[in-house]
Amino acid sequence: MPEFPYVPGLAGVPAAESKICFIDGTKGVLEYRGYNIEALAEKTTFEETAFLLMLGHLPTRVELDRFMSDLSQHRRLKFRIIDLIKCLPETGHPMDAITAGVAALGMFYTNKEVSDPAVQYEAAVRLVAKLPTITAAYHRFRRGDNALLPRDDLGHAGNFFWLLSEKEPDPFKARVLDVSLILHAEHSMNASTFSARVTGSTLADPYSVIAAAISTLAGPLHGGANEDVVGMLREVGTAANARAYVEERVGSGKKLAGFGHRVYKTKDPRAKILERMATEVVDRYGGADVLATAKEVEKVAVEKLGGKGIFPNVDFYSGIVYDRLGIPADLFTPMFAIARVAGWLAHWKEQLENNRIFRPSQIYVGDRARDWTPIDQRG
Ligand code: COA
Repeated sequence: MPEFPYVPGLAGVPAAESKICFIDGTKGVLEYRGYNIEALAEKTTFEETAFLLMLGHLPTRVELDRFMSDLSQHRRLKFRIIDLIKCLPETGHPMDAITAGVAALGMFYTNKEVSDPAVQYEAAVRLVAKLPTITAAYHRFRRGDNALLPRDDLGHAGNFFWLLSEKEPDPFKARVLDVSLILHAEHSMNASTFSARVTGSTLADPYSVIAAAISTLAGPLHGGANEDVVGMLREVGTAANARAYVEERVGSGKKLAGFGHRVYKTKDPRAKILERMATEVVDRYGGADVLATAKEVEKVAVEKLGGKGIFPNVDFYSGIVYDRLGIPADLFTPMFAIARVAGWLAHWKEQLENNRIFRPSQIYVGDRARDWTPIDQRG
């Protein structure tokens, strides 16, 4: 008899004690380090939230200034990393490009003293700062453009728009992205965070830790639902088609992209904020028809599925927001990684505070004590 019951996917099995993120899925509450997500989205910047997650407290003005200055000074990539990204095929997925870029960083920044707070800080700053540069560089190279140098005078979100498009970012657009990054920065234990903690528990370097987390996020069961939402809304076409579309999908047992969540059994608090942002974005940049279609899909879906605890999740409105901001659909999951790197690094540091290498067991269900057969007698 195994000592512990086997739980496929470790569903619901605690894998760590953590002070980083609290979720109440029934009441729809999300807190980073005890601060409600609504307050963080309204009052902080991504940089401030990233500091809170990774360093454990809200920064003082001096601490935040230093952190922002450190971030802006670490945005650039070594020319060899740029060359490496340039060599990647333009037909690949950007998630694979950023995994390759991040993994390669570890060969340039080789300090392996992962328990040293100064090494941790420097690696965290580099990773948060460079992920947008790697993502934008790959995007530009695949279109035949040169990568741009980061702008030290812009905030994290504004700089990303600059790197993508070489255009002065409109402050409203930069703030919408900033809030979206805050909303995606952390979400307690899930596959990619677990991956970061497992890799970190071996005392691997932080670049390998984040490369592992990004690879885990790249799978379609984790990242990517917001990309599907945009496709689904195109398929629905107009608000008038929403009822028939939802009824047909639900009736035939198919899932609706952007609905349902393992933890939330009510509307995801991030979806509420993103819905408001989607309205503002559509007012500025157009797309009222897409938003109207989304709202009608939500209305019918909640009517049909709300009783089962199925409501819009973070991906439902973020797809619309990113699309309206002009971000290409296959960069939606990289945007998730650009934000979540802060949460992954917070978990990596927390793991190292009281580290024990992950070493689960297995239940062997294969054959035993078989007779070996010579190769020419095997049928
Ligand atoms: N659309 C329609 N029905 C859904 C649904 C959706 N998006 N999500 C769950 N359901 C239904 C299932 O069909 C199932 O119904 P049944 O009990 O009659 O068989 C029930 O709700 C439970 O589904 P299950 O997949 O077991 O729930 P879960 O909590 O394990 O899954 C997700 C959560 C996120 C995997 C799931 O909701 C999903 O696949 N959503 C769509 C993809 C998505 O938006 N992912 C991003 C998550 S942030």
